[in-house]
Amino acid sequence: MAKRVVLAYSGGLDTSVAVRWMTEELGVEVIALCADLGQGGDWEAIKDRAAAAGAVEAIVVDARDEFANDFVAPALKANAKYEGKYPLISSLSRPVIAKHLVAAARAHHADAVAHGCTGKGNDQVRFEVSTRALAPDLETIAPVRTWGLTRADSIEYAERWNIPITVTKASPYSIDQNLWGRTIEAGILEDPWAQPPEEVYALTTPTATDPTELVISFERGLPVAIDGRRMPLAALIGEVDRIVGSYGWGRIDMVENRRVGIKSREIYECPGALALLMAHADLEDLTLERDLAHEKARLEPRYADLVYDGLWYSPLKQALDAFVEESQRFVTGEVRLRCELPGRCMVVGRRSEVGLYDYTLATYEAADRFRHSDAEGFVRIWGLGVATWAAKQANTQ
Ligand code: ARG
Repeated sequence: MAKRVVLAYSGGLDTSVAVRWMTEELGVEVIALCADLGQGGDWEAIKDRAAAAGAVEAIVVDARDEFANDFVAPALKANAKYEGKYPLISSLSRPVIAKHLVAAARAHHADAVAHGCTGKGNDQVRFEVSTRALAPDLETIAPVRTWGLTRADSIEYAERWNIPITVTKASPYSIDQNLWGRTIEAGILEDPWAQPPEEVYALTTPTATDPTELVISFERGLPVAIDGRRMPLAALIGEVDRIVGSYGWGRIDMVENRRVGIKSREIYECPGALALLMAHADLEDLTLERDLAHEKARLEPRYADLVYDGLWYSPLKQALDAFVEESQRFVTGEVRLRCELPGRCMVVGRRSEVGLYDYTLATYEAADRFRHSDAEGFVRIWGLGVATWAAKQANTQ
């Protein structure tokens, strides 16, 4: 049995109750670890709450740049969207949190890590598979999966132990947020026919009045500047989020297939992620050679599935990363994004010093350097197989 446990702590009701519950029921010491992934939060208040719940120590790790550079960046290069839509906001965050849980477990000589996920979701899969990949010897504890408390029970438990929780009973939504976006589940959203009320949104409320354009510069597949201003990836995502979100663009309403076999209705808002993914894919259209582009497009859904399914730390994912990285050698250039009301954001231009678009080949103007006479023989031989087949059909009718 474990004696000391590092818990992935969010400061919410479930993980706060989990601190006290594990202390009382399992007789363990709990170290609460909060990962700052750009979700925003009053970290001092959250640390105090962990202490009030009985944590022997509360740690806040600023993992924003690491998350952006080592987790979001590879996914962006891979154009990773689960089921063609979801940019893996929560899916990408669990492996980085797991990494810090393991590091803290080592530093504090803990023998287990814990999380506050239920048994119905994907996040338990990601935490546990990641932890086993990084530290096969550590035990994983999932109190929320075993304690059998209803939400009302948890609120009562928190009150009984004087854990200061601001439970807004009016907000029935389950929200997860980081610098790549925001996820909203539960409440009325559990009816897939029900239109999401405006109150669920926080990043995509339209406030802009005039159209705007922004130029995103990419180097080897990574966005590095907006309108010529260079900035770190985490900051750049935040800026695109703010600008594009102000046009009310960047919402996803989908029914998705969870790893555990449940279909669920999910709302996402991630204007920055969607705009950058769109711009990146567009620049690839200009810079990737045809066969490479097509092969990469075949692998992208596989990459997204692996991340979604908790296999961030897996040999196939590593091998795909190497392929994707190689593919980005010439994905350098600029993409023009235009935002306008109501709720529109689109690519209106792209350019690259290393692009494969050749005006003198593509133009219909007279002075091109395409040898039109070559086309005749090419097309005849290209269609030879079909022509032979068609002639045979005609003779055997
Ligand atoms: N359905 C999304 C996913 O599986 C979002 C999960 C949100 N997680 C949460 N604990 N609220 O990645």
